[in-house]
Amino acid sequence: MKTVVITGSARGFGLCQARKFKELGCNVVISDVNEENLKKAAAELETIGPSATKVVSTLCDVTDCAALQALWDLAKTTFGQVDIWVNNAGVNSPDKPVYELTEKEIGFLLDIDLKGAIYGSKIAFAGMKEQGFGQIYNVEGYGSNDAMMTGLTLYGTAKRAVTYFTRSLAKESAELTGGKVCVCRLTPGIMITDFIKTANGGATKIDLPEKTKKVYNILGDYPETIVDYAVPRMLANTKNDARVMWLTNARAFGRFMTAGFKKRDFFA
Ligand SMILES: NC(=O)c1ccc[n+]([C@@H]2O[C@H](COP(=O)([O-])OP(=O)(O)OC[C@H]3O[C@@H](n4cnc5c(N)ncnc54)[C@H](O)[C@@H]3O)[C@@H](O)[C@H]2O)c1
Repeated sequence: MKTVVITGSARGFGLCQARKFKELGCNVVISDVNEENLKKAAAELETIGPSATKVVSTLCDVTDCAALQALWDLAKTTFGQVDIWVNNAGVNSPDKPVYELTEKEIGFLLDIDLKGAIYGSKIAFAGMKEQGFGQIYNVEGYGSNDAMMTGLTLYGTAKRAVTYFTRSLAKESAELTGGKVCVCRLTPGIMITDFIKTANGGATKIDLPEKTKKVYNILGDYPETIVDYAVPRMLANTKNDARVMWLTNARAFGRFMTAGFKKRDFFA
């Protein structure tokens, strides 16, 4: 039975991944900074999947290396191995141009979205190298493909760096483990989660402009749809430097072509 560890998995995409992995017969270790949501998520996950599968939950702030190490240790001692580790925790940036961002806002986002993925990858890589196998997934986002937009410069900078970091770590893994530790990217596209409505860890509300809502209605999906596609592919993957991608150019093109007669409204 496989064991999957996911950061930032008390809600949203992380929780949806945990549900799907458990449904497909994996043990899941969920973790987050939000204790209330984490408890609810763990209770729900208990009821999902084959009875032999287990869920373990723990508080873990991805800005804290020691907490991430404790997360690895918990998963390893409970289940004996970690097959998949997903650095999923992330926050949105306030919808402001860079010159209006405060030092605190900049540090907050980079610490979670970039340094959190680096710390998580470093710890999972060391453990997987030792056990001789495993997959690490880092979650890409706006900016990973060099897209640019006022208001998303900081977030895009972090995600572009996550992409570079992940690919370069995959190269390291090819040299250091012969690719036995697969370092991969998970590319969900646009997801309709609470993430798009808030920044600064929920403290700042984002009022999405109508233009943005229009794009989200065409290209966006609920995370439940994305995990149905992504999780079986993550479980089946054996390649280092793989990319599990939902919103491909072909899918986006199809969405724009059919937008006129397939009306979707996530904001009604
Ligand atoms: N929603 C989108 O449109 C979208 C698109 C592409 C990529 N992503 C990425 O997907 C991932 C998940 O996004 P989501 O939409 O589910 O967001 P979400 O806000 O619904 O969930 C994020 C979770 O991370 C947790 N978290 C925040 N700070 C943390 C920290 N320091 N340590 C541990 N956990 C922390 C939150 O408590 C929350 O439970 C993020 O990496 C995000 O950048 C989101």
